[in-house]
Amino acid sequence: MFSKLISATLAGFLVSSVHAAPAAHSSATTNTTLSAMLPLSSDTSFSYEILRDLGLARYFGADVGEVLQAAGNVTAADMEGFSDTFANLANHVYSQAQAINSSEFPVSARDFYFRAATYFRSADFYLHGNASDARIMAYFANQTDAFDKAISLLDIPGQRINLKAADGSFTIPCIYYQASGANATHPKPTVILGNGYDGAQEEMLHVSGFAALERGYNVLTYEGPGQPSVRRYQNLGFITEWEKVVTPIVDFLVSGARPEVDAARLGLFGYSMGGFLAVRAAAFEHRLAAVWAVDGLFDVFEPYYNAFKTTPLGTLWNYGEQTGNYTAFDNEMDAYLFDSGLADTETIWGIVQGIWSFNVQTPSEFLRKAKPMTLQNISHQVTTPVWIGAPSEDIFFPGQPQKVRDSLNPGLATFHELGAADGAQNHCHVGAMSLVNELIFDWFAGVIQ
Ligand SMILES: *[C@@H]1O[C@H](CO)[C@@H](O)[C@H](O)[C@H]1NC(C)=O
Ligand SMILES: *[C@@H]1O[C@H](CO)[C@@H](O)[C@H](O)[C@H]1NC(C)=O
Ligand SMILES: *[C@@H]1O[C@H](CO)[C@@H](O)[C@H](O)[C@H]1NC(C)=O
Ligand SMILES: *[C@@H]1O[C@H](CO)[C@@H](O)[C@H](O)[C@H]1NC(C)=O
Ligand SMILES: *[C@@H]1O[C@H](CO)[C@@H](O)[C@H](O)[C@H]1NC(C)=O
Ligand SMILES: *[C@@H]1O[C@H](CO)[C@@H](O)[C@H](O)[C@H]1NC(C)=O
Ligand SMILES: *[C@@H]1O[C@H](CO)[C@@H](O)[C@H](O)[C@H]1NC(C)=O
Ligand SMILES: *[C@@H]1O[C@H](CO)[C@@H](O)[C@H](O)[C@H]1NC(C)=O
Repeated sequence: MFSKLISATLAGFLVSSVHAAPAAHSSATTNTTLSAMLPLSSDTSFSYEILRDLGLARYFGADVGEVLQAAGNVTAADMEGFSDTFANLANHVYSQAQAINSSEFPVSARDFYFRAATYFRSADFYLHGNASDARIMAYFANQTDAFDKAISLLDIPGQRINLKAADGSFTIPCIYYQASGANATHPKPTVILGNGYDGAQEEMLHVSGFAALERGYNVLTYEGPGQPSVRRYQNLGFITEWEKVVTPIVDFLVSGARPEVDAARLGLFGYSMGGFLAVRAAAFEHRLAAVWAVDGLFDVFEPYYNAFKTTPLGTLWNYGEQTGNYTAFDNEMDAYLFDSGLADTETIWGIVQGIWSFNVQTPSEFLRKAKPMTLQNISHQVTTPVWIGAPSEDIFFPGQPQKVRDSLNPGLATFHELGAADGAQNHCHVGAMSLVNELIFDWFAGVIQ
């Protein structure tokens, strides 16, 4: 996901750049990057992505043995091999699902379809360096097909709902899950779940959706521009004005179209880069009762810039800003990523994912589009309580969650640093969502009581 890029980017540039300022980066960097958690691959990026999948096992999105079996077949830096391995696993689990009579055994079938969907997402994850790679569309269609079969087999089936942006310029694909026992006379709070830089809304059901449903809350997941299905099917990259995505969702939930929704008790959850997006939206959308930033991200561009500003790339970036000519920056970045042999998986993935998800052609276009994504001069407009997570060892986002906290009006921020004692030190606390769900939803109960 997001911060891992920064860590790897920083590490990569330290190696590559003769002008890097070595004093700024101590051996603590190495200790923290590896952390005490058992790695699942010698490739930091693969290890993180495998842990991310494993973390979904708690709520039906993966199983441990099959993910570890796949982990054993991936080789550091081999993104094609990673993709092939998870495609094989996805197809295997999907065919197992199809062999089950889903009328007779709906629970069994839906478990396999959910897992197949996760593995199809993993098969897609590292392919975005070539936007015309046909597998980008095929694997995503595969995950959607598997996931839709799974949610149709829930006790209360999930429903896809398409909402329109106010100006009609894009569609907001959502999936709605009604809480058991919610009805017009007993309306329930509703949790709106959004992902970040790379994840699909389907992942969010496993991250916090089932945990919300168990607590009696309705759930709505969604995607906006830049996120997997909007990027693919509407050809739209990320936008800064995330309230354009969230406000139509709130309009829908308060409209009475869903009488079992308690319109006064809506929470908005932003995961990963969604930690910026959700707070940005809340600065303009004041009908929410609560917001979660998991984790807090004040400025999307700043950590990227920090990763290269003391290297020759920083000089070339500044030249681009002064002259409007970023050709030298892009050439140098491309040479570093693809020719130097120095860039690791996370760095390469982080930049190509940015180019793909912002729907641009070059690293500098991506970074320029990311630059306005800041809460500076905006977060004081937030009127909603905000729960902010901070992973203790995400040192490459130095101060980002704290900056969100400090920028909010007094009394609005609830700040939680989570660490290795709970296995929660990683970006987004992957693998520790039982703890995070306990914290965020027990806090929510207090906010909305
Ligand atoms: C990093 O690890 C080395 C070797 O284990 C150790 O000597 C050093 O104190 C560690 N640094 C920090 C900041 O923990
Ligand atoms: C193992 O990885 C290789 C590529 O490294 C791939 O071709 C092969 O299909 C994978 N095997 C399984 C069982 O996933
Ligand atoms: C699946 O199970 C249902 C309900 O038991 C049964 O009616 C149907 O014939 C089964 N289908 C197949 C293909 O076995
Ligand atoms: C990108 O993918 C397309 C479609 O598979 C292929 O024709 C093309 O050669 C690929 N480009 C690169 C640079 O790999
Ligand atoms: C995945 O998608 C491809 C292309 O649409 C299709 O041929 C294949 O049957 C799908 N596989 C599964 C398991 O859904
Ligand atoms: C609404 O839900 C409550 C409990 O959740 C239940 O007691 C009641 O019978 C339901 N009402 C209707 C009309 O279904
Ligand atoms: C932009 O910079 C590149 C490389 O420094 C140079 O080759 C090119 O002529 C410049 N383009 C313009 C329009 O100034
Ligand atoms: C925030 O406001 C200050 C003071 O007006 C201004 O200098 C700065 O550029 C603004 N930042 C953004 C991102 O708008």
